[in-house]
Amino acid sequence: MKTTIKKIILLASGSGSNVENIIKYFDKSSNVEVVLVAGNNKNAYVFERIKPYNIETLVFDKLYFKEKFINIIDQNNTDLIVLAGFLWKIPESLIERYPNKIINIHPSLLPRFGGKGMYGNNVHKAVINSKVKKTGISIHLVNNEYDEGNIIFQAETSVHPEDTLAVIERKVQSLEKEHFPRVIKEYLSKI
Ligand code: GAR
Repeated sequence: MKTTIKKIILLASGSGSNVENIIKYFDKSSNVEVVLVAGNNKNAYVFERIKPYNIETLVFDKLYFKEKFINIIDQNNTDLIVLAGFLWKIPESLIERYPNKIINIHPSLLPRFGGKGMYGNNVHKAVINSKVKKTGISIHLVNNEYDEGNIIFQAETSVHPEDTLAVIERKVQSLEKEHFPRVIKEYLSKI
């Protein structure tokens, strides 16, 4: 019997450590293929980082993202779009066309510390300032509001009073590396 290969597109704006981790997880022997890594910033380290993997890349501007990116998604028969450190808001046109097919990872236990401007270290600073005792990651569906779509998965880690920004960042990133690819795989098996 022929195995169906699920196709995913990864969107990223920054360093791309999650993108690389996902690419490595879905190696040639898996039934998931990363067909494209796309983003809004041509200078983002993600594009340097993934050169050895020979995966197609694309850099777009706002207009292209809003109007033409749909064609790229369709041409690739994409099963899932994964935001891995992608900072632009997703246009409504994409959300309507691909319901439940766009997921995001956020570096906090949503609904706390989400929303516009809450990304990367901004989130961790807010966590430290609020003196909460735990933080973590949330993987969720993308809807029209920043970080408000249905949550698929969360994992938590402790926050100690002496924890610095770097410590919190490391703990959260370690959860991301541990769980994100597996959650993608499990989600793909259900859609
Ligand atoms: C990750 O921690 C991800 O959770 C966060 O950006 C980082 C990207 O790191 N995403 C957000 O804050 C979205 N609001 P990476 O580029 O090394 O994967």
